[in-house]
Amino acid sequence: MRALLIGGGGREHAIGLSIVKSGTELAVISPNKNPGLMRIARKVIIGDENNGRFVLRNADKLKPDYVFIGPESPVAHGVSDILVENGFNVFAPSSEAAKLETSKAFCRKFMSENQVKGNIESTPFSEPDKAERFIKNIDYDFVIKPDGLTGGKGVVVQGVHFKSREDGIRIVREYLVSGTAKLLVEKKVIGEEFSLQGFVKGPKISFLPIVQDYKRAFEGDRGPNTGGMGSICFSEMGLPFIDNGTVDKAKEILEDLVRKFNRKVTSYVGPIYGGFVATHDGPKLLEINARLGDPEAMNVLSLMETSIMDVAARMLHGQQTRLEFRDRINVIKYVVPRGYGTKPTPSTLEIDEEKIMIKGLRIFYASVNLDGDRIKQTSSRSVALMSEGTDIEEINSRFSGISSMIKGEYEMRNDIGTAKTIERKKRAMKLIMSQKA
Ligand code: GLY
Repeated sequence: MRALLIGGGGREHAIGLSIVKSGTELAVISPNKNPGLMRIARKVIIGDENNGRFVLRNADKLKPDYVFIGPESPVAHGVSDILVENGFNVFAPSSEAAKLETSKAFCRKFMSENQVKGNIESTPFSEPDKAERFIKNIDYDFVIKPDGLTGGKGVVVQGVHFKSREDGIRIVREYLVSGTAKLLVEKKVIGEEFSLQGFVKGPKISFLPIVQDYKRAFEGDRGPNTGGMGSICFSEMGLPFIDNGTVDKAKEILEDLVRKFNRKVTSYVGPIYGGFVATHDGPKLLEINARLGDPEAMNVLSLMETSIMDVAARMLHGQQTRLEFRDRINVIKYVVPRGYGTKPTPSTLEIDEEKIMIKGLRIFYASVNLDGDRIKQTSSRSVALMSEGTDIEEINSRFSGISSMIKGEYEMRNDIGTAKTIERKKRAMKLIMSQKA
């Protein structure tokens, strides 16, 4: 069997590893020279992953049995559409199905018109005056969310990124100044976030264990939002601060959304990601992504016994798939360029993989370029380190002494997945749930 994978980040390194686990021959089309993918793939073609004609030309030569698309951007640019039109088996949604991610306003409207639970009060605007009038009349804290793709970095929250209503209005005005942009003003919801991912074909979703992504750039959950600085997963046990009832309800919401979407819009195929908040009033859906999360894909695919290749092959042929997971906890921390989240200044890294392995950590390469025996950073995330086990203290202890394993200029959050952070989240959720009506 042959698979073609599109994308060259940490998520794609994890997908690639899962594909080759089944003995499948892997080819990759990537914008960067990812050393992890270059090691496991038979062929890596460097080029524009968003260019449908370029991807199709290469797919015609490579003749893959299945195609996987990691990031949202090629899907939004119609790469899955052109491949499906030309007879390829693609385990990714069409650009129309990806509207659930590419237009937040469409997703909210669809949920509201079709009585899908977990929706959040949300109003779209493209005219600054209308947005200002609206904001002056609401009696709740709010979130400003661009309508289109932002790579997880575009959302700004009152009380976190801006203080007063007036500050919010200023941000909205700046964003809408071009006259073509669109944003949503949404009610702020309080609770711990979790990512619920799964694979879709038909009305059912094969769910993956929930993960929590640490989105903020700095320790203590401060600073700007990023694509994700690291993440934690407790396999099928679930996160210790999110109760199982909330997760079950989130699964019902996602499945209801997909069922209705399949019936009324178009058939959804491939990975899906629901970003949820656990509130005292049940789970609320923050966003849909028409792909796996990054870093979340690394957590779940490392624990998944089944190869994603087998999942795709079975699902695309209409067969049910039961996913099996190892019963372990994993913590991921991303190494990122200095200034990531605001003004990244990429540099060069020297990575001692042997030391990393001896320490019991796994490495996933992300948006970097192999340059001789050095790793050149881009402005995006560089490498993810993963520690796995059954005891959270022991898992965290493996991250000590990183500077002797990775040399260069970079940043990494040390507080991701520590016992202290988890206890803080447990206390916060206990307080939030005690406000239940
Ligand atoms: N880590 C968040 C995302 O992939 O959207």
